Amino acid sequence: MADYLDSIGAGKILITKEPFSFDWSPPELVGREKELRELASMFSRIGSPSISSRAVVTGPVGSGKTVLTTKFSQDLKKSLRTKRNIKTVHVNCRNFSRTTQVLQKIATSLDPGHPERGFSAGEVIQSIRRNLRSHGKHLLLILDEVDVLIRKDNSDLIYRLLRIDEGQDDRGFLSLILVSQELNIMNRFESAILSRLGRSSILQLRPYDEGALIEIAQQRANLACRNGSITDEVLAKIGRYSATSGDARMSIELLEAGIRRAEAAGRDSVLVEDIEPSEFRGSTVEPGQVDTLSKHQRLVLLGICRRLKKNDYIASGDAKKLYILVCEEYGVRVKGHTTFLKYLKALEIEGLIDTKTANSSIGRGRTQHITMTNLSPAELESRIEKVLLRE
Ligand SMILES: Nc1ncnc2c1ncn2[C@@H]1O[C@H](COP(=O)(O)OP(=O)(O)O)[C@@H](O)[C@H]1O
Ligand SMILES: [Mg+2]
Repeated sequence: MADYLDSIGAGKILITKEPFSFDWSPPELVGREKELRELASMFSRIGSPSISSRAVVTGPVGSGKTVLTTKFSQDLKKSLRTKRNIKTVHVNCRNFSRTTQVLQKIATSLDPGHPERGFSAGEVIQSIRRNLRSHGKHLLLILDEVDVLIRKDNSDLIYRLLRIDEGQDDRGFLSLILVSQELNIMNRFESAILSRLGRSSILQLRPYDEGALIEIAQQRANLACRNGSITDEVLAKIGRYSATSGDARMSIELLEAGIRRAEAAGRDSVLVEDIEPSEFRGSTVEPGQVDTLSKHQRLVLLGICRRLKKNDYIASGDAKKLYILVCEEYGVRVKGHTTFLKYLKALEIEGLIDTKTANSSIGRGRTQHITMTNLSPAELESRIEKVLLRE
């Protein structure tokens, strides 16, 4: 027999893998009571017929947006069981990024027999409305990563969905939760949408602090591992490393990788050395994305990341100053301004940064604002630093 395979699934540490699978939801959320309560207050009137609610949830990668909105919708449905027939549909717009795809997904969630094609967006919306009305259902629609949809297809769909509720004498069919990494997602909407969403209904999730990240790893360890196999020192190291990004996914992945390493070595507990940050899979940055950049592109990006860890955007002038500092740090000669702008353009084409032109109140008028929508600056920073060190 191939006894080199013995260690696979031996389960010296793991009792079940399930809490590490990507679509598994924890029974309780760690440290988000206040946020759940805040969301509930935005939905405080949802128990009454003819009432719809709206909320916008923002936060960086791994701040628990998806898990929080999922948990909230489950709890809400349960608690309103006797009052209202709520149907939750969760659409991840990264997977369904076109208006027609999103509508199709909603329509088939309500009615699995809904025809696949041949209808215009308006017709599908009408059929969604008809379905809700005839079954007395209230749709709680979660559009996750909604910025992807808006970037591809603008915000027209959101406007039209919000208008489902504006019939003469019937309303209260659809509540909406928009979820985005982008802090300023509201800036993407026109006033017609803003007035319907309500400025006050924004919940901003902060990145997790070290304590919360330790607890999140601890929760998975308790549910998946044998007693005593994960020590407090191991959890402390996981907390320390993942605190640089505040990303819960990172703390869970560090734990999982540590378990894998320990089991592969035939041990029945995880050692502090098994927690190895260089090995974790970045949740949004592919390692190759950084590897293909030129040295100076990396240096420019590093400066930008450092600022975007703290601020929502950085002006191109400041990005230049930080680039100069980074060049000093790595003992490299600074390139000229035109070349610097070319680097910015290249980073934008790579999808690593987003730029917007803003009217500056000082200087020559136009300045670029740089943001990062899909990536975690902290994670990207540590990846670039690692690559630069290797050179
Ligand atoms: N408060 C929490 N308690 C327990 N697990 C959490 C918590 N927040 C996030 N997680 C877990 O961390 C991972 C990332 O969370 P997710 O909701 O996908 O983040 P986001 O959508 O903001 O990127 C998921 O596995 C999720 O279950
Ligand atoms: Mg998510």
